[in-house]
Amino acid sequence: MSGAASSTPAPAAATAKAGVTIVLKDIVQEYPAPGGGTTRVVDGVNLAFERPGINMLLGPSGCGKSTILHMLGGVRPMGAKTPTSGKILIDGAECDGAHDDSVMVFQRYANRPDLSVFDNVAFPFRLKLWRQRIAETEWRQRVADTLKAVGLADKQRLRPAQLSGGQNQRVALARALVLRPRILLMDEPFGALDAQTREEMQRLLIDLHNAQPCLVVFVTHDVTEALVLGDRVIVLSAQPARVADDFVITEPRPRSGAWQRSGEAVRMEERIFEQLHASGPGRGSVRVTV
Ligand SMILES: Nc1ncnc2c1ncn2[C@@H]1O[C@H](COP(=O)(O)OP(=O)(O)OP(=O)(O)O)[C@@H](O)[C@H]1O
Ligand SMILES: [Mg+2]
Repeated sequence: MSGAASSTPAPAAATAKAGVTIVLKDIVQEYPAPGGGTTRVVDGVNLAFERPGINMLLGPSGCGKSTILHMLGGVRPMGAKTPTSGKILIDGAECDGAHDDSVMVFQRYANRPDLSVFDNVAFPFRLKLWRQRIAETEWRQRVADTLKAVGLADKQRLRPAQLSGGQNQRVALARALVLRPRILLMDEPFGALDAQTREEMQRLLIDLHNAQPCLVVFVTHDVTEALVLGDRVIVLSAQPARVADDFVITEPRPRSGAWQRSGEAVRMEERIFEQLHASGPGRGSVRVTV
């Protein structure tokens, strides 16, 4: 996904199939418990993502959202097999590691302090996998286009320390989008930003996704964010995570304040809270942006 208008071709893997299917089948995750034995964190999750769109994964703090997202991104924790049981299928093939077509964006944006904004976004092209795929003139153009798309064209020579939190998150987003991934995994990417910057970033994500749709799985514990961004909202129970609810939002984006106050949106909000409360009072927290 990139808002950039560029004539450069996408990598072979990305052009071969426009859509992508991810299936999570009977996913269970257990971790060693401090006092011995194991703790079950994810308990039989079945999900299928079948088309481009923004899929929100919502649930109380500590319920296992990041665990599921990291599994999808091939991030393997030390000292535990993951998933403990069950399968992840991407385009029908079992995937038990990082997938070439997917990238992750985290709340801590992980920009290199010693590199300029341009070099931070260009960083993936230093890696062998991407160096082999794309010529330097092409990736340089892509980086420039992507920086323009995220509104950082005039900041490309600066270092991360010279940027605001929102601008740093734009750099992290650009570093993901420059690869034109078919799968974009986002773990509370705007969670550390102030309310106004968070809204700006949500609008930016909508614009970029409109320009080039891909399959986004977006973890949040912010109910408003889920309603503003999601084509689909998946609500997880408190730990161990199970799918408590799963529904579609057809309202086109951007979603106006009037829609957010509408009966439809309020009913969805109530439905989400009902599920979250049903999963146990005092077991984690969720946020509503006001
Ligand atoms: N590598 C690990 N080893 C042991 N326990 C872990 C590991 N990773 C996560 N956990 C535990 O699994 C549970 C779920 O963690 P996870 O990070 O997936 O929750 P989350 O829903 O993303 O929470 P938050 O909203 O706070 O980010 C927590 O109790 C956490 O302590
Ligand atoms: Mg998390």
